[in-house]
Amino acid sequence: MELFSEERSAEVVTGSFAHTPDPRLKQLLTALVQHLHAFVKEVELTEEEWGAAVDFLTRTGQKCDDVRQEFVLLSDVLGVSMLVETINHRTRGTSTESTVLGPFHMVESPPREPGDNIALDGKGEPCLVTGQVSGPDGEPLAGAQVDVWQANADGFYDVQQPDVQPERNLRGLFTADDDGRFWFRTIVPRYYPIPDDGPVGRLLTSTGRHPYRPAHVHFIVDAPGYRPVTTHLFVDDSPHLDSDAVFGVKESLIRPFPLVDDPARAAEVGLPNPFRTVHFDVALLRSSADDEDAR
Ligand SMILES: [Fe+2]
Repeated sequence: MELFSEERSAEVVTGSFAHTPDPRLKQLLTALVQHLHAFVKEVELTEEEWGAAVDFLTRTGQKCDDVRQEFVLLSDVLGVSMLVETINHRTRGTSTESTVLGPFHMVESPPREPGDNIALDGKGEPCLVTGQVSGPDGEPLAGAQVDVWQANADGFYDVQQPDVQPERNLRGLFTADDDGRFWFRTIVPRYYPIPDDGPVGRLLTSTGRHPYRPAHVHFIVDAPGYRPVTTHLFVDDSPHLDSDAVFGVKESLIRPFPLVDDPARAAEVGLPNPFRTVHFDVALLRSSADDEDAR
């Protein structure tokens, strides 16, 4: 084996993986070492900086438990989560774009009837959400499953405030009708900070970044024979649309939430007048045999 040298450090280390039986593991480790060594050489990393990096990663791991995943947060604020997500769900503009799942889909959404109000705590601006699920040729997807969850008017998910919010507040699993249409009542979500009391929060502070995500409703939409999409519906007048702490915003997912002042319509849909409204159509791609295998 070649002895270690500054000039050929990456080649020496990647050479040690020559007998890795799994070709993908070999490819991943080889590229990782090449990029790590190039990084260390480019910045001429000091021993103090190396020690600080090890300490940071140690504290990141120590912050993780059953309900807190600081490493995912780190991946999020470095844009790696969104990059992996985007590469793995390329739509070529032919279906609704995806975005990060986020950490708050930790409980199953309760099945709800069309039109149900998922805002169980009675706080916030009432909002009517309507939409239609279709396939790539515009075919309506009857019976599509529409799973939604969102933060409340204070910017918290139910699981973050188990003693404050009703159980399963602002969550629902809806089934689209024969025309692929769905509708439900809720409130306009609020922007909120990602958990920032750990090492990732300190990273944001020390780089002059804020921890906020713009207001959004989470969606997972699924229909047999089609590729499910995990995405967000963003509120177009929310702060931080152009500076999402986790880089989750895509232009195609932003919608206006106009105010409707129409007592007759309000009575018809069972909301106080006036109310906000938003329409969000979701288009799915047909699944390939590979997708079905993966599922
Ligand atoms: Fe969220």
